[in-house]
Amino acid sequence: MADIADLQFLLQENFCLTPDQLAAIAESFEQEMLRGLAGQPSSLAMLPSFLTRPSGQEQGTFLAIDFGGTNVRALLVELFGRGRFEVSTQLSRPLVAPGGFYNLIGARATAEDLFGFLARQVADIAPGCRNYPLGLTFSYPCRQTAADNSILISWTKEIQTSGVEGRDVGSLLSEALIRANLAHIRPAVVLNDTVSALLTAAYREPDADIGSICGTGHNTCYLEANPPQEPRPMYINMESGNYDKLPFNRYDIVLDQASDKLGAARLEKMSSGRYIGELLRLVALDASERGLVFRPGPPEFLRQQDSVTGADLALMLSDKSPDLAVIRDWLERKGVRASGAEDRGALRHIAFCVTRRSAQLVAATFAGLLSHIDPARVRRHVIAIDGSLYEKMPGYAGTIQETLTVLLGDFASRISLQLSKDGSGVGAAIAAATLQTGGR
Ligand code: BGC
Repeated sequence: MADIADLQFLLQENFCLTPDQLAAIAESFEQEMLRGLAGQPSSLAMLPSFLTRPSGQEQGTFLAIDFGGTNVRALLVELFGRGRFEVSTQLSRPLVAPGGFYNLIGARATAEDLFGFLARQVADIAPGCRNYPLGLTFSYPCRQTAADNSILISWTKEIQTSGVEGRDVGSLLSEALIRANLAHIRPAVVLNDTVSALLTAAYREPDADIGSICGTGHNTCYLEANPPQEPRPMYINMESGNYDKLPFNRYDIVLDQASDKLGAARLEKMSSGRYIGELLRLVALDASERGLVFRPGPPEFLRQQDSVTGADLALMLSDKSPDLAVIRDWLERKGVRASGAEDRGALRHIAFCVTRRSAQLVAATFAGLLSHIDPARVRRHVIAIDGSLYEKMPGYAGTIQETLTVLLGDFASRISLQLSKDGSGVGAAIAAATLQTGGR
């Protein structure tokens, strides 16, 4: 049994953001961007990518590696110009083997293990000894001094592999390629996945000037017209998942305190797929301890950290059956044999509030960014977005669009949100190509 009215009050108090609060977040996000660009203390690192827009005419065959939080993908990409491309070969392998046979992202894995694994993917995909330019999409905050020099500032998404923080990931990959007898293949460029997603859209669509990932992690980049100390427009990786001028609720605080990097990645911890399952778990556990759901006491799985994933929330929100049979089966798999219909409804409602707030926060940061790049609100903008939340979470894309309308009024009709599916792999190939052609 559940006490729905009290649960709704709890959720309202902790997860509802008013239009005024969202507008204040948008405004303070823009201020934080300006501080970051000026080199002042800011939770937004505003990292230069040393990459600019593609012309759309880039052509050739390129190798790409996409190192995300869950899998490594290796791709052979053919660029045909005029925005057209084809992924001719691709393979994907998990960073943690399903049976636990290997784990490349735990504290016991070393840089050599991880980059050796990446090099083996290249060996499996690179036919013969052809020397294709290689682009590496590396989805973590890196300080760059050039397109091919990229020092990992610190891991995010709870990754712990040792010996990578503070080192140049391009060199780590180069050394691993030499060890794998692939010395002729050299990484030409290392780029963030947001930049990769944006490049993929910008290759065919000149108005694409914002790229974002709403998946395991969260982050946004954009085309800065006047980057500090650079003569021409450049993509800036904001590392916006680290943004921290936000109204934290008690669950955000508990989640942060139990995380690897206390006080870091605060927006990401409120919005990304790596953390929203844990937020639902914390709310459901608290609600159960207050006697609002799962009476007489919390089921065991709610006491285990990370026992609920972002994909579980997508499953809950897609359950349209009258008696929420999908959630009932999910609960059974979690060891709850006889769940009440109200408890299932409560879980679905918590999932709704947690994901809605995530999409609203992301949209508020987009609104702040748009006021920086287009203060007169006159141009058309394409926001290229990749990631499982944006692609698969029911209601997510709609809430971003709706929140942009609340915050930007008519200007929102000039903003087009586009899924940049698998953009994080193809963009690495486009980046390698723009370095040859000089971009636009
Ligand atoms: C990383 C970003 C990345 C984002 C999306 C975050 O955890 O810090 O660099 O773009 O995840 O993958």
